[in-house]
Amino acid sequence: FFRSHMATKHVYQLGEACFFRHHEESWSIGKVIEKLGDGLIKVRADEATTASPTCSPQKDVVPSRLSGGPIKTCPISGDFTLSEEDLAPLVDGALAPVSDLLNMPWLHDAALLHHIRSHYFKDTMYTALGPIVVALNPFTWSIPQYKDERMADYIKEGTFGLHGCSKQPVHTWSIAHLAYWQLRTTRMNQTILVTGESGAGKTEAVKMAIRYLAAVSSAQASEAIREKTTAITQKLDATSPILEAFGNAKTLLNDNSSRFGKFVAVHFDTQGLICGCEITAYLLEKSRVVQHASGERSFHSLYQMVAGATPAERKEWGLTASPKDYRALAAGGEPTIEGVDDAEDYRAVRRAMDVMGMSSADQNGVYRICAGILHLLNVQFSTKVGDSGANEVARPEGQDLASLQRAASLLEVDAEVLLNSLTVKRTQLFTKPLNPSQSANNRDALCKALYSGVFNYLINCINALFTPDAVQAASRESSPTKEVSPRRASLAPLRASPKASGLWVGLLDIFGFERFDQNSFEQLCINLTNERLQSHYAECIFRRDLDEYKAEGLDVDQISYQDNQPVVDLLSGKGGVFDLLNSECRNPSGTDT
Ligand SMILES: Nc1ncnc2c1ncn2[C@@H]1O[C@H](COP(=O)(O)OP(=O)(O)O)[C@@H](O)[C@H]1O
Ligand SMILES: [Mg+2]
Repeated sequence: FFRSHMATKHVYQLGEACFFRHHEESWSIGKVIEKLGDGLIKVRADEATTASPTCSPQKDVVPSRLSGGPIKTCPISGDFTLSEEDLAPLVDGALAPVSDLLNMPWLHDAALLHHIRSHYFKDTMYTALGPIVVALNPFTWSIPQYKDERMADYIKEGTFGLHGCSKQPVHTWSIAHLAYWQLRTTRMNQTILVTGESGAGKTEAVKMAIRYLAAVSSAQASEAIREKTTAITQKLDATSPILEAFGNAKTLLNDNSSRFGKFVAVHFDTQGLICGCEITAYLLEKSRVVQHASGERSFHSLYQMVAGATPAERKEWGLTASPKDYRALAAGGEPTIEGVDDAEDYRAVRRAMDVMGMSSADQNGVYRICAGILHLLNVQFSTKVGDSGANEVARPEGQDLASLQRAASLLEVDAEVLLNSLTVKRTQLFTKPLNPSQSANNRDALCKALYSGVFNYLINCINALFTPDAVQAASRESSPTKEVSPRRASLAPLRASPKASGLWVGLLDIFGFERFDQNSFEQLCINLTNERLQSHYAECIFRRDLDEYKAEGLDVDQISYQDNQPVVDLLSGKGGVFDLLNSECRNPSGTDT
């Protein structure tokens, strides 16, 4: 069937219903009204089928949250002249609902989008694609069938769901359920890969999956054991506001966009109960500390501390209450986010740090460094003509000097030493005064390194808290307020040696694909990561199966798929873009151009 539709050229008849490419809707439905010759065909949009199915009231919130503008719920009308390649036949049954996209009678982008779109407008955010779940971001938590209470129905299925006979509609929970029971029955570690564009809902999906893993693993346990697991999951929940405060920022695509990738391995003990977790963070977009695009923000944590510091903290950190006073925070224009209370979020993060057992001295240390960064980034360098006649940095004065001294005091270094290290190049043989732009580069590099140091420190604190030893020690404590100190726990190796069972379910939440008007090096790295994941996906889904079919003597030449391996090779292969960048960086006379 697949071949018959792919291999033969379709001849369109007058009056025939078809899919056609639409400049806004991607693909729409219409019927052929005229054949103009030279492969051109005139199509009339079918108002009745292009009108979105009745839109539920929850969708009202969508238009204001989506960067792409409001979702069209109005029918498309009018005539369109298109080349034949921009048409796709609407075969019998193509529009009939399918519960699994693998069962679509006609494999084509147009039909695929049609099914996903109609699911979305029927409040069915999740669609099965064989073992994969395709999820659309509903931007609302009020859809009844996805409320947390429904988790119990999935949990009840136990191993029944393993055999592809689950009665429950697909959901992030079904994937987590499957991963958990596969782990228990096969004793093989599992990984759930969450991928999609920035703002697609990946991070929320991971949080949902972790909550489900906690619930399913403790469902059969006694009340006492469940209480212990609840304590662990409470701490796991507490990690989200901390990671999101320090690693997330508002971008044009997502008000709460993760600016780092993470792999969370949730560890289970021999009874299948959660006994720890380990987070590996990748590539924090630290350049955001010093610059961000118009309409975006730097990391939430910096706005939160400015908005929410207590009077005593404000005094100690020398902070005003206005983000506009800090160059690092004001660059994007509007430093607040609609519907977000940074001050309240600051308090929530501090509470989460308490739940994690971080001492107030450690918390304070983290925020002191952040305040130091804000002050240091306010220091601007101006020019003077030096003894050699070249332009050099003039000694900072006024506000610049005050900001420098404040930063030095918060970072616990001598102000003169700090100034010197930013404005003078020192080698074993000579010292050379730098110009303002070189000094500003040094200042920025220092701030980026400091912020990523803070971020890594927090990840290490979290991991230390969740090593099986730390978890055991914490669960031995009778009072839930007496947590194990991260300092003490951090003496243990940071890479959790898995508990007795050694089994884990990993969740990969990588930053989503991005394309801005101006794309930094980080965007290139982010997009390369996504290309590699896509390639891995193609490998698992297509390449391996096709190789198997070929080995069995089947003719698979007609089956093609979009393979992005050439893109991956171009970027990261031998002699590729990253190779060239690396050699340019190693070259002492290398330049940015
Ligand atoms: N399942 C969901 N239900 C409701 N809202 C969601 C859901 N997933 C995501 N959102 C909303 O979309 C925003 C972006 O989601 P997020 O998970 O941060 O995207 P990503 O990690 O893919 O960039 C969230 O802040 C939340 O407001
Ligand atoms: Mg995210």
